[in-house]
Amino acid sequence: MAREEDASFAVALPTRRATLRLARDLAALLTKGDVVFLEGPLGAGKTFFVRGVCRALGVPSRLPIQSPTFALVNEHEGRLPIVHADLYRLTDASELDEIGLRDLLVESVGFVEWGERFGDAVAKDGVVLELALAAQGRRARVTARGARGRTIVEALARDLDPRVGRLAPP
Ligand SMILES: Nc1ncnc2c1ncn2[C@@H]1O[C@H](COP(=O)(O)OP(=O)(O)O)[C@@H](O)[C@H]1O
Ligand SMILES: [Mg+2]
Repeated sequence: MAREEDASFAVALPTRRATLRLARDLAALLTKGDVVFLEGPLGAGKTFFVRGVCRALGVPSRLPIQSPTFALVNEHEGRLPIVHADLYRLTDASELDEIGLRDLLVESVGFVEWGERFGDAVAKDGVVLELALAAQGRRARVTARGARGRTIVEALARDLDPRVGRLAPP
C-alpha cells in the first residue's frame, strides 16, 4: 500500500522545454475521463502547460490552443477529445453545469485552470499540477486526487524524463 505522502512530488522547470517534457510525460498517461487541475498565479504557465499536453496528444500545431478565460471551455481533438476550462471567472459551483463542464469531462481528457476551489464539484479524482514562479523559470508540484489520480502520479513519478529535476520534499 502506498502512503499518502507518496502521491505527490515536486520538480524544477528552469526552462519552457522542461515544462514541455513534463507535459509530454503526463500526456502519455492520460485517458478519457481523467482530469488535471492546474493551479498557480496568473502567468505561472498553466495554459502553456495545457498547450504542451495538447500537442503531445496530437493536436496539430496549426490549430491555436488559446486561454479559455472568456470562453470558459475550449474543446480540441487529439488522439482523444480534450476539454480545456478556465474557471477564474466562475463564482458558483452551480455554473459548472450551465457551461456543461461535468458532462464534457466524462467524454474527454480534461484540463481545468483555477478549478481546485470548486474541488469535488469538478472532479473527485485526478491530478493537481501546481505551478509557481522560481528563481529560474518555474517549479511544479504534482499531487494525486483519489485512486485514479494516485495511479497517474505514481506512474509519472516512475516514468518521468530523468532530465526533469526532482526537488526534495518540503
Ligand atoms: N518553465 C518555464 N520557464 C520559463 N517560462 C515559462 C516556463 N513555462 C512557461 N513559461 C512561460 O510562462 C508564461 C505563462 O503564461 P500562461 O501559460 O498564459 O500562464 P497562466 O495560464 O498560468 O496564467 C508563458 O509565456 C510561457 O512561455
Ligand atoms: Mg491561463
